[in-house]
Amino acid sequence: MITGGGPLEGAVRISGAKNSALPILAATLLTEESVNVGNMPHLNDITTMIELMACMGVEVVVGEKMRVEVRAGEVTAHTAPYELVKTMRASILVLGPVLARYGTARVSFPGGCAIGSRPVDLHLKALEAMGAEIEVEEGYINATCDKRLKGAHVYFDMVTVGGTENILMAATLAEGTTVIENAAREPEIVDLANCLKAMGANIEGAGTDTIVVEGVEALHGCDYNVMPDRIEAGTYLVAAAATGGKVVVKDVDPSSLDAVLHKLREAGAELVVSETTIELDMKGRRPKAVDIITAPYPAFPTDMQAQFSAMNAVADGVGHVTETIFENRLVQAHEMNRMGASISVEGNRAVIKGVPRLKAAPVMASDLRASAALVIAGLVADGDTLVERIYHIDRGYECIEEKMAGLGANIRRIPG
Ligand code: UD1
Repeated sequence: MITGGGPLEGAVRISGAKNSALPILAATLLTEESVNVGNMPHLNDITTMIELMACMGVEVVVGEKMRVEVRAGEVTAHTAPYELVKTMRASILVLGPVLARYGTARVSFPGGCAIGSRPVDLHLKALEAMGAEIEVEEGYINATCDKRLKGAHVYFDMVTVGGTENILMAATLAEGTTVIENAAREPEIVDLANCLKAMGANIEGAGTDTIVVEGVEALHGCDYNVMPDRIEAGTYLVAAAATGGKVVVKDVDPSSLDAVLHKLREAGAELVVSETTIELDMKGRRPKAVDIITAPYPAFPTDMQAQFSAMNAVADGVGHVTETIFENRLVQAHEMNRMGASISVEGNRAVIKGVPRLKAAPVMASDLRASAALVIAGLVADGDTLVERIYHIDRGYECIEEKMAGLGANIRRIPG
């Protein structure tokens, strides 16, 4: 429940990146030695991944200060079961590592989700290029290879973050050289590659569209800290901008947020950026509407689109939003219209005419980022907004109500 109010003010610490922590946990399957991962965010998706690893026979010890020790000494089950994969699509990330280390892996075929069909054909095609045989049976992807995967020239028809991560991990233990072309350039790819390098992998070009991996026979343990979550940081900054507030986000990597900061400046925010903090000040002003087109990194992230749409809903002017990554990711617009927003959606485009203030209403979260957008909408609405299905938010935002309350928001969790 959010009671709309005045500007957000204060400081907030940003957690480790969910989208880095998930592939890094999967990467620990590549070695029999212990990998110590720090700055792990406390999130339901992370718990699901840890549960998945545990059911594969991996030892996971959650220590203090979100440090997790993982030892995949012997992976006894090479299967990622339906019950876990259906709650988190990122489970597909165990496919590459388990196949590369054991020559066999079985992962439940991930289904669609609220934001689109989200196929994994590109992951599978690339693994086949590396010598894997893949069959789909009874809803499971069965992958096998003869001893080791073989280095190959992989070209992705579309930029895929998960696909790049799966192949990057698989290639570290393959025989020979793998060249990944049209690779995703997201900072989380670089974070994963840095962790793999700390485990002894031979990788060049992460962060560019061509990644070259020289396979090695075995990887070893390491200590690694997950990068800060750029989407969480962006969400608090946009929330502050929508409310005309002044906040500092701490423990961030501002270089990973270029496109987002650019749009916040366009919306009228004054930003002071240091090595690990970003201070945003709207000087009490209403934000100006901004146009957004989502695209792979370094362009504007699809994971920030819903939050900017919420800001546009109360901005001065008309904002045009085009979603190019997922086909069904403008759904929150309809919920925001129930709160008095003026958003028309046609295909993958939304035209948002800003109104001075929204009106509270009960609304339903449909996915992770849409739920964050509804929280922002609640902050700038008169009255009490009840956001339902907040389990979506717990998948990707650590203690959102505490962090928002720390910035002066009137927000509370209602036990359901
Ligand atoms: C990752 C992020 C997610 C983010 C998305 C895009 C994680 C855990 N999740 O998701 O938060 O929104 O990147 O930045 O890191 N596609 C295919 N075939 C494939 C794979 C992908 O057609 O085999 C399509 C997808 O349907 C989508 C596009 O490619 O339209 C991009 O998807 P992808 O980059 O793979 O997203 P994820 O890795 O699932």
